[in-house]
Amino acid sequence: LDEVSNVAEWSARYVLKKINDFKPGPGKYFVLGLPTGGTPLGMYKKLIEFHKQGKVSFKYVKTFNMDEYVALPRDHPESYHYYMWHNFFSHIDISPENVHILDGNAPDLHAECVRYEEDIKAAGGIHLFVGGIGPDGHIAFNEPGSSLASRTRLKTLAQETLEANARFFDNDIRKVPKEALTVGVQTVMEAQEVMILVTGSHKALALSKAIEEGVNHMWTVSAFQMHPCTIMICDEDATQELR
Ligand code: F6R
Repeated sequence: LDEVSNVAEWSARYVLKKINDFKPGPGKYFVLGLPTGGTPLGMYKKLIEFHKQGKVSFKYVKTFNMDEYVALPRDHPESYHYYMWHNFFSHIDISPENVHILDGNAPDLHAECVRYEEDIKAAGGIHLFVGGIGPDGHIAFNEPGSSLASRTRLKTLAQETLEANARFFDNDIRKVPKEALTVGVQTVMEAQEVMILVTGSHKALALSKAIEEGVNHMWTVSAFQMHPCTIMICDEDATQELR
């Protein structure tokens, strides 16, 4: 196994164990927060494999995604709705009503964000939030300078994020949506447990800022130093800048 598939395998096994250790009951679901992006693709692939082998069921799992672009049609291949159904949900036994993804086409985006926070609360909070980070240390779309007390809201994306995401839009930065709805840092902080996947040397600086320097809103993922139960799952390349 190379290191990237190790991260995929390790994180998928961790999610599987958490779901299988959970005792569901009437109205009792395991609540899982999920990211999109390149990093978690291997984890989703592994989870699908485990599901097909009968090792895990998602019947008693509710999911909440981190974010979604604004004004990108839901069926656009780069929308996070499309990503999640295409790469994960349509291959497992999750009920569509248990899937929650922010609606970036909602007529009232603010109301949509408020509703999302209420839905998380109504589900009893998130047991495990899986996340990814950008090279600038953003978690979800909490760009540098975001409040560490932030909740679900509309964000304008940083230039660096537009550049990083251009690869998904024909390498044309003009096609990348400039706004997104995203859970806040505080929304993720309230999860019982957080697991952040970090792979590649382009994330090495962000990882060092996240764990070896002080909590700082210019590297929003550093907030998780204050979280009682956060783990970072990294490959060797991502650790290059660590002392
Ligand atoms: C995705 C998300 C982002 C990504 C981050 C890294 O839902 O919220 O924080 O995790 O931009 O993206 P990749 O994995 O493509 O490098």
